[in-house]
Amino acid sequence: MASAQPTRRLRRPLIVGNWKMYKGGRAGIELAEACVGFARDLRDVDVVVAPPYTALAAVAETLDGSPVSLSAQNLYPASEGAFTGEVSGAMLEECGCTWVIIGHSERRQVFGESNALVADKAAAALRHNLVPILCVGETLKERASGETLGIVERQVEAFLDIIAQSTKPVAIAYEPVWAIGTGRTAGPSEAEEVHAAIRSWLFKKDPALADRTRILYGGSVKPENASALLACPNVDGALVGGASLDAASFGAIASAAAVTPAT
Ligand code: PGA
Repeated sequence: MASAQPTRRLRRPLIVGNWKMYKGGRAGIELAEACVGFARDLRDVDVVVAPPYTALAAVAETLDGSPVSLSAQNLYPASEGAFTGEVSGAMLEECGCTWVIIGHSERRQVFGESNALVADKAAAALRHNLVPILCVGETLKERASGETLGIVERQVEAFLDIIAQSTKPVAIAYEPVWAIGTGRTAGPSEAEEVHAAIRSWLFKKDPALADRTRILYGGSVKPENASALLACPNVDGALVGGASLDAASFGAIASAAAVTPAT
């Protein structure tokens, strides 16, 4: 029977490298080659990389036949049309992507993406056979004023109906905005508190959705802190920014995920 607090052994760990606006062209191919190199030696962990748009096609070729999967960092909800500068889910699918990051805090903060737009993008990803990695998280001000769970619940609620209506896999990434690129990480207990709350909201909607959805932690994940975070029962993996730009660091984080913690 499904439970509100299933252990992470029910879900295969997932480690995603978000390259942001780095590693286009040749540098992206080299990093992808290095990721394939370490991923071949790992069992029991899914490794995904998310290069910038211009590197997707070349990295898709590099990853072909390897255990590493390809993600985009964003998409536009329409399949095609007069949307200058945008890229659709259909195009990402054609390009070899099987994953897409949606609603990253940099999209929300720098580009003003709303919860409603994030929900539309989630629906588009599912229509195009892309696994959405749906990002949520509070700012430092929101945490300081005790609003963390309320903010994150509203962000999850915005896409909850969409992911519950589908039987396709999705992932959710909890990324406290104050921990992204700052070197400040949520401690394992801070992360676990929010992850467990997210799991409980999914469970209320549909126990099977709660059991199958991988909830990743993101925000200054490094080889030094990965094991402690990944040992939390509701932390099913990591969304890694800065440390994913270095294959040795990213490989060390993926290796930490591949080792089942002795809980
Ligand atoms: P960081 O970024 O690991 O550099 O903090 C995480 C993210 O933005 O996904």
